[in-house]
Amino acid sequence: MIRVLFVCLGNICRSPTAEGIFRARLREAGLEHRVAVDSCGTGHWHIGEPPDERACREAARRGLSIEALRARQLADSDFLQFDYLLAMDRANLAELRARCPAACRAHIGLLLDFAEGAEVREVPDPYFGGGAGFAYAYELIEAASDGLIAHLRARYGL
Ligand code: 4NP
Repeated sequence: MIRVLFVCLGNICRSPTAEGIFRARLREAGLEHRVAVDSCGTGHWHIGEPPDERACREAARRGLSIEALRARQLADSDFLQFDYLLAMDRANLAELRARCPAACRAHIGLLLDFAEGAEVREVPDPYFGGGAGFAYAYELIEAASDGLIAHLRARYGL
């Protein structure tokens, strides 16, 4: 099993959206038994909460249900259990690098590094903005999900 962890700050907007989108894409590709997906936040504020209702609404508008997900915080064990820890922005990435133990063999990077042709490298935090930020985040994550599947297919011969 290849294990992928999406990481943002609160685990209620961007990374649960990424978890939902990527899991749906894996299912469409018939790869759900080869790749495991989870998400978490570097912060503790929303532990145990469902995704932000604006994120749920954006996902539902596109036929995806993410409201059953619950926020959790990044754990030290994640660095040893996951093969990919993919950050939404550079602040999340810096936090991952700072906490990464020497024994970690995972790929740690930005999710949008897998988004071919995207003109940005970070998924902007939509939490303090309006609905447009959620739609934009959704589209960036979708583009990266397709690129990530292509990468996993090539790297692992899936
Ligand atoms: P996320 O968005 O990192 O995409 O889940 C945020 C959610 C909550 C907060 C910040 C960002 N917050 O400050 O509570």
